Amino acid sequence: MRVRTYDEIDPLAAFRLGVLTFGIAWDEAKVRRVRSHDRTYLEEFALYAEEHGRVLAQVVPRRLAVRTTSGVEEIGGLAAVCSHPAVWGRGFARRLIEATHDRFRELGMRVSALTTSRNIRGYGVYAKLGYVDLAPFRQAIRPVTRRKSPKGYRLRSARRSDLATIHRLYRAQTRRMLGWTERPERALEWAVIRNREYLDKYRIVMRDTNAVGYLRTRPHDGITMEEVVAPDVQDFRAAVALMEAKAEAGIATVNWITARSDAARFRRLGYTIDGPFPDTTMAVSLVKDIRTTDLPRRFGGTSGKFVQYPTDDF
Ligand SMILES: CC(C)(COP(=O)(O)OP(=O)(O)OC[C@H]1O[C@@H](n2cnc3c(N)ncnc32)[C@H](O)[C@@H]1OP(=O)(O)O)[C@@H](O)C(=O)NCCC(=O)NCCS
Repeated sequence: MRVRTYDEIDPLAAFRLGVLTFGIAWDEAKVRRVRSHDRTYLEEFALYAEEHGRVLAQVVPRRLAVRTTSGVEEIGGLAAVCSHPAVWGRGFARRLIEATHDRFRELGMRVSALTTSRNIRGYGVYAKLGYVDLAPFRQAIRPVTRRKSPKGYRLRSARRSDLATIHRLYRAQTRRMLGWTERPERALEWAVIRNREYLDKYRIVMRDTNAVGYLRTRPHDGITMEEVVAPDVQDFRAAVALMEAKAEAGIATVNWITARSDAARFRRLGYTIDGPFPDTTMAVSLVKDIRTTDLPRRFGGTSGKFVQYPTDDF
């Protein structure tokens, strides 16, 4: 097996592998667009396992800034991991991930992380490679009766001119948390370059003429709200009430609650918190002086300070 970079293989082979395993893939033009902007991708863009000229597995390594109990650091992230179904169980994904870990070490990174589901084959593969869950991911629900919108507040769609405001609110809300608190200032701009419709799910919470919060909503996926970011608790309550007024089927649902403070805010509004549900972020240590078993503590998973909002899914 040889390890190749995106530029060393036929882009069509990468596309084929993506479609086969994820049902969707990026063509060369999209890869070019993304890698020319998004600073979280490495120079190689993606790594491939190749055998007898066949491209059999893929890893897209990322560089991600996080905050742990020892401060802000850059870690490795594994995205778009897949292997050809004809060779599953033959160690191609494992060997390619190990090669990616070596690359991360070369770059001075001490930890590798990934987001996955405990429901899929990959979970067992990552666990076998030593990865552990960092924190429970929870959901919340509450039956709602139609409410009046809180006075003085309204929601509006997000525009590109809101990106700086969204970032400011996110920074204020995550100031005392650990984990994915270091979203790059331009992350949403890069997401829009990846997908023009990306901002469609974002709403800005307005108190009179001031933007005091933002949230995401995906009603077509059964998710009333996620990433409800409003540093002031009154504004948070108002944002939730506005979304409850819109909830289909009289039940409001909240996805991806990771921080204990967010869970407490929803609980106080009458929500039942459930979980952990299958989504999870896992990590492994790449160096001798950090024990993998200590990573949940370092990332705030055991103290309730861990945060990862859906915008920071990778
Ligand atoms: C997830 C995926 C990449 C795994 O690929 P794979 O080629 O089967 O992985 P490997 O053969 O390298 O498996 C690594 C090891 O885990 C073992 N393993 C596989 N499934 C396992 C499971 N459910 N539990 C425990 N071990 C498992 C393998 O036997 C192998 O053992 P070895 O290291 O002793 O050789 C592949 O199934 C895939 O492409 N899935 C679709 C896309 C996807 O869901 N990607 C993950 C997104 S997060």
